[in-house]
Amino acid sequence: MKNTENKNNVVLSARHLKKSFRGGDMEQTIINDLDVDIRKGDFTVIMGSSGAGKSTLMYALSGMDKPTSGSITFCGEEITSYNADKLAVFRRKHCGFVFQQIYLLDKMSLMDNALTAGLLVGGKKKEIVRRAEALFEKVNLPEVTWRKLPSQISGGEAQRAGIVRAVINRPEVLFADEPTGALNSNNSDAVLDVFTELNRDGQSIIMVTHDKKSALRGSRIIYLRDGKIFGECELGEYTPDNAERTEMLNAFLAEMNW
Ligand SMILES: Nc1ncnc2c1ncn2[C@@H]1O[C@H](COP(=O)(O)OP(=O)(O)O)[C@@H](O)[C@H]1O
Ligand SMILES: [Mg+2]
Repeated sequence: MKNTENKNNVVLSARHLKKSFRGGDMEQTIINDLDVDIRKGDFTVIMGSSGAGKSTLMYALSGMDKPTSGSITFCGEEITSYNADKLAVFRRKHCGFVFQQIYLLDKMSLMDNALTAGLLVGGKKKEIVRRAEALFEKVNLPEVTWRKLPSQISGGEAQRAGIVRAVINRPEVLFADEPTGALNSNNSDAVLDVFTELNRDGQSIIMVTHDKKSALRGSRIIYLRDGKIFGECELGEYTPDNAERTEMLNAFLAEMNW
């Protein structure tokens, strides 16, 4: 399916997106006249070499950082013109974020970390608690961990608690920048399983990764080079140990000279 075919299917689109950084009188253009449509329900993976601008693109798309020029339409709203305060409110409501390093509030239990994010946006506390409990179960954090402090759990558990907090408000898009970058292989798989399961439930995800195993989870791979989308590849729905999918991704990445 081409992403231009059904406009209703598009949750996020960027047109003529440009992001430059100024250092002294030098200007470095990282994202250069980029167009992209992100479909609802997709697990979109952004790849590219180190320094290609993957994080920069994700920050721009999510409204974390203002683009230099161009437009971004997110859930039908043109967010490019929003000021910082309006953007912050928008992000809290519509976006979830997971980073390589998870920033849980260290004096709060895992549960309170999740609830705080939920209550900030509003809604009935009871309902938010129920949602949090269901999510903790989904990410395989048993009840004994809910009252623990971030210092009392492993890195992998912290990352999964971070995912609960990121999706507690049922964001339109979950943004993840190298979410397994600091984890060992077992913890990585557990976190990727959570992403896969959330996506199966309909969660749209945009994930930056330089790791092939993580990328395999995606339904669509976008490859960044020279500030633009250099190539893309549709992988369809993830199923484990699918040799054909692995082959497709390998062939695509070879074509990209990755
Ligand atoms: N805030 C910033 N100020 C100046 N340059 C930046 C800033 N953020 C990123 N860059 C530059 O943009 C380029 C791409 O960075 P980034 O998006 O982090 O790449 P990637 O995530 O693909 O590794 C790098 O050359 C980096 O130095
Ligand atoms: Mg990066």
